[in-house]
Amino acid sequence: MSQWRPKVVVTRKLPDRVEARMRDLFDVETNEADTPMDSARLAEAMSGADVLVPTLTDRIDAALLSRAGPGLKLLANYGAGVDHIDVSTARERGILVSNTPGVLTEDTADMTVALILAIPRRIPEGQALMQGGQWSGWSPTAITGRRIWGKRLGILGMGRIGQAVARRARAFGLQIHYHNRRRLHPDTEEALGATYWESLDQMLARMDILSVNCPHTPATYHLLSARRLALMKRDAIIVNTARGEVIDENALTRMLREGRLAGAGLDVFEKEPGVNPALLGLPNVVLLPHMASATDEGRIEMGEKVIINIKTFADGHRPPDQVLPSML
Ligand code: DGY
Repeated sequence: MSQWRPKVVVTRKLPDRVEARMRDLFDVETNEADTPMDSARLAEAMSGADVLVPTLTDRIDAALLSRAGPGLKLLANYGAGVDHIDVSTARERGILVSNTPGVLTEDTADMTVALILAIPRRIPEGQALMQGGQWSGWSPTAITGRRIWGKRLGILGMGRIGQAVARRARAFGLQIHYHNRRRLHPDTEEALGATYWESLDQMLARMDILSVNCPHTPATYHLLSARRLALMKRDAIIVNTARGEVIDENALTRMLREGRLAGAGLDVFEKEPGVNPALLGLPNVVLLPHMASATDEGRIEMGEKVIINIKTFADGHRPPDQVLPSML
């Protein structure tokens, strides 16, 4: 029996192993130059493909979806976050959306913990001192940071990644607090030793460290507004490995500059790849280029998930990682 080989367009360069397997299974067009596609190029890809494999650098809005060809039936996103895709409009047009949940959880949680440690323990300053050849030797008062152990960590968004952060943070002796749309099952709360805060405002006012782990949706856009940031303690730090849009980046920058917040570890930004220039010069930040989930293993597993979603769909079934508007 001959198998349907859908025409698949992949918008960015994926790991070689993933692309090779896609070539075995599908009629695939890859992007070897890895240049992000502009909307004209995306529209062209969507007009001829059965399946598009976009990434977070492709903005697939209602206008673009209106130009999709009749064959386009699946957006098999390479990534967990789908805030760059208008999922509701895609559904109205009969186009399914899938993503790659689960395989990025542990890597992202590892990087979150790295950022939680980096600012209070002054790791970038220590590194700069060494690389600048300025270390004159140990001293009792040199480069003292702030203790992590015993502090309160507030996790905003207690899904897979938030829970993986909580498990790691407990091992560092942090007290775990969280705010989430839905309260966790009591058994999960107990296993994580986590305290639930129904009021985000009240939690923010009491935390030493805040980790942002919720997705970006219309409901979480600027959830950490200037007003909410002002509720936080002056010596608190914020870590964001989720999406830049959850924090009002201008307000955060202002508060860091004015010493109304002690520091921030940011892996994501509101207008990537742009970064507020005022953030770049601040001594109390660690800035990373959206790399929290970037491991070789993770990128291959993401590709495997994409392949399973497309193959299952091509075989006449629902992609296992289908994203529905009601899930957002
Ligand atoms: C995702 O999968 O959404 C991540 O942000 C990619 O790094």
